[in-house]
Amino acid sequence: MEKKIKSVFDKKNKRKISCLTSYSYNFTKIIDGLVDIILVGDSMGMVLYGMDNTRNITDQMMINHAKAVKKAAEKSLVFFDLPFQKKFDEKEMITRVKNIFKKTGCDGVKIEGNAELINVIQKLKKLNIPVMAHLGLQPQKFTSSKNFKIYGKNKKDLDKIIDDSIKLQNSGAVALLLEGMKTNIAKKITEITKIPTIGIGASEFCDGQILVSEDMLGMFTEYHPKFVKKYLNLSDKIKHAVKKYVTEIDRVKFPNKNFRYD
Ligand code: KIV
Repeated sequence: MEKKIKSVFDKKNKRKISCLTSYSYNFTKIIDGLVDIILVGDSMGMVLYGMDNTRNITDQMMINHAKAVKKAAEKSLVFFDLPFQKKFDEKEMITRVKNIFKKTGCDGVKIEGNAELINVIQKLKKLNIPVMAHLGLQPQKFTSSKNFKIYGKNKKDLDKIIDDSIKLQNSGAVALLLEGMKTNIAKKITEITKIPTIGIGASEFCDGQILVSEDMLGMFTEYHPKFVKKYLNLSDKIKHAVKKYVTEIDRVKFPNKNFRYD
């Protein structure tokens, strides 16, 4: 594994891993180097494109956004999400990952799935493509974000996910992303695995954390999941700035002599 990648994923039990999403060049310039990993998530479907799920992001859309993000990221690692695939097909999955990886120059891929990913991860490992497996709440399984369900409400869930986590680790995954699950499950997986767990809505017991940037900056206002902490209310700040701009245009306060070419 490349040195830079190893230094991030070797942090388990030493230091927490920090991650955020980005879909654009400009935003990446701002957060590059502040977090360990930048994810070009298919959450862009909801956050950027106003869709009600993540399923309609195409490989070409992912390539466009991931390329822009990777171009701006000089320090943080960049992972892309493998967009939704209607029917599970190992060969097709590997071909798609290889294509996006090659065209974007990203450092790795995140794939939603369970033990069915074993062969895919093994093969991608041989091709030097690091994989983060995404377990628990898997948004691509839902046609509407309104139906998202926290993982772990059934008794069998714990054994199943523990078993899957070990299998994915043994197949060569570099990390496990744990989304929307009961705390005891995330804690147990984190304790028994050697690779880091990155949580979102999966408690402080994970080895690292990720949030959608628009959520934590208070820019996405359609709904507010319990696990999101808003570190800023950017939508209010933007509204305030835009109102001021409009008022100043109206009162001919902007532009003025400081902003013109005489
Ligand atoms: O698509 C995404 O941004 C994600 C994060 C929510 C983990 O999968």
